[in-house]
Amino acid sequence: MSYSLAKVDRIIDHYGADAEALIQILLDIQHEFRWLSRETLLHTADRLGLPMNQLYNVTTFYKHFSLVPQGRHAVSVCVGTACHVRGATRLLDRVAQGFKLSPDETSADEKFSLKTVSCLGCCALGPVMVVDGKYMSNPTSNEIAEIVEECE
Ligand code: FES
Repeated sequence: MSYSLAKVDRIIDHYGADAEALIQILLDIQHEFRWLSRETLLHTADRLGLPMNQLYNVTTFYKHFSLVPQGRHAVSVCVGTACHVRGATRLLDRVAQGFKLSPDETSADEKFSLKTVSCLGCCALGPVMVVDGKYMSNPTSNEIAEIVEECE
């Protein structure tokens, strides 16, 4: 998706171009575009009168922000300790094969992004995969293939 600085301006204007609202502004921009481009960060820093390094500090501190394009469907596999001992490595292999992605990769058509996470807070279900907020306990290759098919 290409960035529209006009959309970025609308978000910034919604908060009155208030530098105090930096995190909320960045969250809204990320929500709109699924990532934060350098062009957008430069523009936002300029509009808010903030140094660029302050925006980089915020965006690299919070894991929620992404500085690279993200797919329309977010796929996460937990590799935390509890999931690891229950077979997270094998699940990650199945997921990577099913979605044809490596961890931290986004598909060329920006349909899927795959990430690993350290704990999702539902260790008893492990190993766990999450697609667009839907949790699945140890899905099989066939179940993963069905999910890939269902995603638009
Ligand atoms: S370690 Fe995977 S959900 Fe906690």
